[in-house]
Amino acid sequence: MSEKYLITSALPYVNNQLHIGHLIGCLLPSDVYARFCRAMGRDVLYIGGSDEHGTTSEIGATRENMPVEEYVEKYRAKHLDAVRDFKLSFNLYGRTHTAQHEKLMHELFNRLDSLGMIEEKASMQPYSVNEKKFLADRYVIGTCPFCGYEKAYGNECEKCGASLDPSDLKNPHSAIDPSSPVEMRETKHLYFRLSKMQDKLRAWINSRQGWPKTAIKIANKWLDEGLHDNPITRDLKWGISVNKPGYENKVFYVWFDAPWGYVSISQIATPDWASWWKNPDCHYTQFMAKDNVSFHSVFFPAQELAMDDNWKTVDVLKGQNFLNFNGAKISKSTGNGIFLDEALSIAPSDCWRYALLASAPETDDTDFTMTRFAEIVNKDLNGLLGNFVSRVCKLSAKNFGDVVPNAGARDAELDGRINEKLAELTSALEACEFRKTITALRDIYGIANEYMTLKEPWTLVKNGDMDGAAAVLNECFQMIDLFARVSAPIIPDAAEKIKNIFAGEHDLSWPREYEHRIANGEKFTVPENLFNRIELDKE
Ligand code: 2FM
Ligand code: ZN
Repeated sequence: MSEKYLITSALPYVNNQLHIGHLIGCLLPSDVYARFCRAMGRDVLYIGGSDEHGTTSEIGATRENMPVEEYVEKYRAKHLDAVRDFKLSFNLYGRTHTAQHEKLMHELFNRLDSLGMIEEKASMQPYSVNEKKFLADRYVIGTCPFCGYEKAYGNECEKCGASLDPSDLKNPHSAIDPSSPVEMRETKHLYFRLSKMQDKLRAWINSRQGWPKTAIKIANKWLDEGLHDNPITRDLKWGISVNKPGYENKVFYVWFDAPWGYVSISQIATPDWASWWKNPDCHYTQFMAKDNVSFHSVFFPAQELAMDDNWKTVDVLKGQNFLNFNGAKISKSTGNGIFLDEALSIAPSDCWRYALLASAPETDDTDFTMTRFAEIVNKDLNGLLGNFVSRVCKLSAKNFGDVVPNAGARDAELDGRINEKLAELTSALEACEFRKTITALRDIYGIANEYMTLKEPWTLVKNGDMDGAAAVLNECFQMIDLFARVSAPIIPDAAEKIKNIFAGEHDLSWPREYEHRIANGEKFTVPENLFNRIELDKE
């Protein structure tokens, strides 16, 4: 039986178009890793989807003046287009507003409750007098006590960055009905007793390996400060209903239900879901941006462990730093960044996939620019990869017709150099280190280019050494076949085109070493250009 690999990508809120930050933050690294694992012959369950709940959806729907269901549907459709266009190979790109998800959350809540892990507490919460309802923090607007900004939210001031409580605001009023004053009134909420999990969680975190430094730091910061019980219900209409009498007007907090979306989506994806989620031998990797790390390294595993029901916790948590664009934060409201619907009018998805992975913000926040994008595509993809493939095919077709010319003896030095890089590439992918992955891949393309430059098959042809030229070109075709296999997780479209150069059936399984799989005399076709240069001044 092959090994089980569970891979999840953070579930983006459906309140905006996705951008290149989402792509490199979680969607792309997870896809590359899933493709790599499948090519290694592993049994992969790769799950993603939409996080449909929370105030972001409700507020967005109000802003666009439409029912929240319709609003969520509108943005989910855009996200699904991006999943298709960027070739993200999810087993299922699901969603959290489903009957299955609600059923699961109710079961899980009951379990936590029965184990004494839920506590009801009364607290003072903001109440909108005219609307006659309690408001979630972000629905309360007022004057920041620190900087005097008049549109500060109940949880934070976006001007001075202060973290706030609704009771801190001066002149608090409702975001939806600005004429309605807000006062603090007593209400009940349910709390998850996170404080009880402190020791178990510490031991669990200490047993994890392969996490980036940023992720470990974030998790330890929470533990060092001491875990507090946290409220898991909210005064909202939109969300997962709370299955406890007295809570009819409340829903579960979005961060209580969202991570369990990985499970409910898996349950919809396959009846066999438990062979990943309840299997201690399964290997689980999560991908996300760093603002999601505390939820995945503390809150979610604490709930899983608290349930004591054999839930698979994450083995490797990959939290990326942020990608900036032209020196500033990517943001829809300022219009800074590349959004996924417009990206494809600039270049095909493979170009974005490769260039973003080459710029992955793995150790620090990283700046991305169109100049950098064009340089990477032109040099690596158009130059080292595309031109090599094209030159080999054309030179060979001109001198030997449409069949692969005969091989010579194997070149031990070349084999050694390629195998060394192949080992580096494999370890980088295994460790989900994507900058190293691209470096090793580029080096493999580079070795092939150097080989051809050194051997000059065109000179051999000119000098009448047709056997010599055939041997060199044959070697080049073997490397082209290797390119298809090692490039497939990163640039799947190009890999497919390269594979289709050959008439024979060759799978894109991951090579453990550099093999010669292409037979003498195998038919091939000269492909169209694999990549076009990006000319920025033409835009
Ligand atoms: O930051 C976000 O967009 C969140 N919706 C991520 C949730 S990840 C998981 F828990 F669902
Ligand atoms: Zn302020």
